Amino acid sequence: MAPQAYVQPIVASTSVFKTDLFNGKVLFCTGGGSGICKGMTEAMMRHGANATIVGRKLDRLQQSAKELSAKTGRECLPAQADVRNPASLKEAVAKTIEKFGRIDFVICGAAGNFLAPISGVSENAFKTVMEIDTIGTYNTIKATIAHVRAAKGAYIHVSATLHYSGTPYQVHVSAAKAGVDALSAVLAVEEGPHGVRSNVIAPGPIAGTEGMDRLSPKTHDERFNSAYPVGRMGDVKDIENATVFLFSDAAAYITGQVLPVDGGTEHLRHQFLPYPQAVLEPEKVKHMIKGKL
Ligand code: COA
Repeated sequence: MAPQAYVQPIVASTSVFKTDLFNGKVLFCTGGGSGICKGMTEAMMRHGANATIVGRKLDRLQQSAKELSAKTGRECLPAQADVRNPASLKEAVAKTIEKFGRIDFVICGAAGNFLAPISGVSENAFKTVMEIDTIGTYNTIKATIAHVRAAKGAYIHVSATLHYSGTPYQVHVSAAKAGVDALSAVLAVEEGPHGVRSNVIAPGPIAGTEGMDRLSPKTHDERFNSAYPVGRMGDVKDIENATVFLFSDAAAYITGQVLPVDGGTEHLRHQFLPYPQAVLEPEKVKHMIKGKL
């Protein structure tokens, strides 16, 4: 019989970290209404933090805030804002200060993505993703930094691993996330002496998220199930655990770093689509893509 690959367990953060780690602390999370960032917020709340979740869709935010509070017993404020609009972010920050009085931790998580080759990414599409991911991160830092400084707090930016190599169909996000990584490094260096840390989490493919739904080819591909050094795809809990660690005092000496949480897939140079067919014969992969060519 063929040897079976070892599958690493999926563990809850509360089984490893103390549940009162972040008592009295406040998290401000863009993109916190859904997906990975909602999970990161839940983990912070399970360890004692109150949180503001920021996004474009108020009904989704309100629903998520209710769920998060019910699950964790902590307070969650839904604040509608578009990270592309600095004024709306400042308003979300003001509401947070009014309700909670402080901001200790910020997750810059709002992002946009779809699969498309350069020929299928219009100038406006490229600009849109740059505006959400890179400029949105900058706007979030600008809106929150005074409070994070006052609290001697920390930032986590949600990036990706796909720009470490040339990933076809990801020109917009590769450029945008490279910018996010650079922003975090400068933030760490400039704000370190003021007591602020800044790190990046770079998730690999994470099961059950909107991002994965947008990026995984429609046609099932076994590589998404089997070819992982740790034996499985990522789970939101994997990102949650990294978040709790990086915001905790255990990470006090870690700043300006990029932490891929991808089960080692970065080293496999994973491609979303068959290569080089996706580049040479785009029509042949069209049926696998939710976007346009
Ligand atoms: N392929 C190619 N171009 C696309 C596209 C796709 N699948 N989806 C959108 N675009 C283009 C649009 O056609 C438009 O360009 P145009 O004006 O030249 O036609 C441009 O992108 C902006 O799209 P629009 O829908 O007007 O912008 P938006 O602000 O409403 O949405 C997106 C932003 C495009 C990033 C959208 O995918 C989004 O809101 N994503 C948020 C959630 C998300 O992506 N989560 C996963 C994170 S990993």
